[in-house]
Order: sequence, then C-alpha cells, then structure tokens
Amino acid sequence: MEIKEYVKQQKEALIKEISELKVTPSFVIMQVNDDPASNAYIKGKIKDANEVGIQVELKKFPIDISEADLLKEIEKVNNDSRIHGLIVQMPLPKHINEEKVKLAVSPKKDIDGFHPLSSINPCTPKGIIDYLKSEHTDFVGKNAVVIGRSNIVGKPLAHLLLKENCNVTILHSKTKREDMERYIANADIIAIAIGRCEFLDDSFSYKPTATIVDVGINRTEEGLKGDAKRGLPVALQTPVPGGVGLLTRLSLLKNLLEAYHHEIKD
Ligand code: GUN
Repeated sequence: MEIKEYVKQQKEALIKEISELKVTPSFVIMQVNDDPASNAYIKGKIKDANEVGIQVELKKFPIDISEADLLKEIEKVNNDSRIHGLIVQMPLPKHINEEKVKLAVSPKKDIDGFHPLSSINPCTPKGIIDYLKSEHTDFVGKNAVVIGRSNIVGKPLAHLLLKENCNVTILHSKTKREDMERYIANADIIAIAIGRCEFLDDSFSYKPTATIVDVGINRTEEGLKGDAKRGLPVALQTPVPGGVGLLTRLSLLKNLLEAYHHEIKD
C-alpha cells in the first residue's frame, strides 16, 4: 500500500482509539528557536495531533532563555500528570546543551525517543519498521544496509532492524565507493539517510527484489528530492516527498499514545 494511504488508514484507527479514551491524551512542544524548518515541523505536528483528537500546547520561549530556566520548564511538564508527552524542538540556541536537555525530559514523556532510558523508539526508525511490517517485508536473515549513522535515524534504525533479525551493516560518508557498491548489490533492504541528493542512482546495481527506504530530504530548485533517485530498479522504493516524512509524523502520535498508556498504568 502506498504510504499516503497507509498513514490515512492508521490515522483513522487512532481517531477511533482516542475517541474511546476517558482522558484526552496531551503533549507539550517547547520551542526555543525561530528556525523556519522547525516552524514547519511544529505546524505539522500540531495539525496531526488536532486531526486525531490529541491536545497539544506549544510553549515558545525567548531565544535568550537560560539553560537553567529551560530545564526548570521541562521539570514542570515532567511533574504535570495531565500532560503525557514532551518534545523540545531541536535545534536549540548554542548556549543550551542539547544533550543535557534530552536527558532532562522524563523518559516516560519522551515521545521523540531521544532519552537513552526511554522505552519509546525514535519516530523515523519506528515509522519505517511499522510500515515495512505492514508491507509484509521479510526481515529474518535478510541483508539490511543502513547508509548514514546519525543518532536520530541511522543508529536507531540499525538497532531496530537487528531486533527484527536482519544482518545489519551501517555504511557512511567515509565508506569506500567499491565497498558501498558491494554491500548495496547484496542488500535486501537499503535505508538511506546520508543527506546527499540522489546519492543512490543507476550507477549502483540492486537486487530486483530489494526495498529502498529513502529518508533524505534535499531542497532543490526542482523541489524536494530524496537521497535516492526516483524509479530505481527495485521492488519497493519509498517516495520523497510523501514517504518517510509522513511515517515519522505518524509515529509521534503513536508514541504519545504509548506514553499515555504507560502513565495511566503507573
Ligand atoms: N528537529 C528536527 N527533527 C526533530 C525531531 O524529530 N524532534 C525534535 N524534538 N526536534 C527535531
């Protein structure tokens, strides 16, 4: 099923599930920047939440808020039992330590899945695995190649693929071209998040049965493009736009419900 249709159906299921809950699930977004990309992401998150009946509050702080004051604000939300999730939108201004902030968010409310003790998976990797499962992707003993080693996508995605019993290889910007070709030619699942427009193209060989998951978002004069060229000769390739971005947004809603159920159970 196409990602757009899959997300639509999943959202319909969420609307039904949320309408049957006694307490409305809610989360807070904290923003300490005026970054246009962040504004767009936040707008999307609020729209998605409203669509499925989740309450969301945006707390926008002045750019010169001190780290200590931001940590206090986080603590307030951590201790507020009416709020089930908390996102601190990245990037943060230079005088605030992002790692410290990620650790300050209670693992129970960390719907980004950034905290090392969080049982919640980061949104993009989770969205990808959930979608591939819905497509009945065979993981066991399959060769999965993750291109890119970021903390937010590459590493956690490799971890989740390993949990699904794939043979996982992480490649990155320093991988030699000849090795890249060899791994890609043998891969059953290729997930690319390397931030290079159309890096995967016809110059590589692919298994015709392979799946390519394109996490790239490259803004070009011709519009948004992925890290993989469109129409590669494989069985399944996720589009950009209208692909992984939608899965990431869906995961945030599911993560909030997971946090909600943890909270209500505790
Ligand atoms: N900035 C860019 N992507 C993200 C994200 O997924 N979560 C947060 N908190 N900030 C971001």
